[in-house]
Amino acid sequence: MLVGYFLLMIHTLRYFETASSQISGFPQFVGVGLVNDLVIMHYDSNTKRLVPKQEWMNNVTEEEPQHWEDETQVCLNLEQAGKVSIENVKQRLNVTGGSHLYQWMKGCDWDDETDEIRGYYQDAFDGEDFISLDWTTQTWVASKPQAFATKLSWERNGVAARWKNYFDHVCAEYLKKFMRYGEKTLKRKELPEVWFLQKSSSSPVTCFASGFYPDRAVLFWTKDGEELLEDWGEILPNHDGTFQTSVSLDLSSVPLETGGSL
Ligand SMILES: *[C@@H]1O[C@H](CO)[C@@H](O)[C@H](O)[C@H]1NC(C)=O
Ligand SMILES: *[C@@H]1O[C@H](CO)[C@@H](O)[C@H](O)[C@H]1NC(C)=O
Repeated sequence: MLVGYFLLMIHTLRYFETASSQISGFPQFVGVGLVNDLVIMHYDSNTKRLVPKQEWMNNVTEEEPQHWEDETQVCLNLEQAGKVSIENVKQRLNVTGGSHLYQWMKGCDWDDETDEIRGYYQDAFDGEDFISLDWTTQTWVASKPQAFATKLSWERNGVAARWKNYFDHVCAEYLKKFMRYGEKTLKRKELPEVWFLQKSSSSPVTCFASGFYPDRAVLFWTKDGEELLEDWGEILPNHDGTFQTSVSLDLSSVPLETGGSL
């Protein structure tokens, strides 16, 4: 069995925002930012402050002393916009009162080999996709008939081009900056511990690998140098910031000619 890593060339910056109405115990607005799936900043409507969630994120004030104040203002505006959006989409979908959730995901990927940038924008109402950006065609995908008017209006008004400009420049610059500040954490590599489990001689053999970082790993069984495609487990987070996964192999499905070894 082999454990391999995709060298992490693609880095991600993601912002998740959630506006909600009448969900008790949950702030009306929450925004978080993540680099390579690690939470780096947090804002919510109770605290009304955007704060760094990693120590190295404080480095941003070296170049921009007002960073957290300025970005807190952006979050306050997003919180207001969230309230308006939730009312608009309720009207659009003809739903009334009660508890509702509006979620946005936006951000960019940066390939540090080719320097290519890819942007993402999508939103969802009550857990169902509403509208999203198709990066390749720079058009909007309406996931519901009620989102079609938004799609037409955004295409008429060149909204995709404005987002593209934001992703290509602002988002990409911040992603590169955050990668630099957090390099020790974000570019570290940790090898997993690996072990095997087989319940009985006829049951599948499972290979577990735990404690690796980053979370892009490949784990596969090989036989005579060839990769055997088998049941992949999900890559799951451990409590200490590392990851784990497993892969099973049903030995009865492998023709074991003489000389073959796993
Ligand atoms: C909106 O919902 C109400 C109550 O469910 C219904 O009476 C009305 O016809 C709906 N309007 C549209 C435009 O679907
Ligand atoms: C981040 O800040 C610390 C403490 O001020 C400093 O020692 C370190 O060199 C900075 N790192 C980067 C990448 O700027």
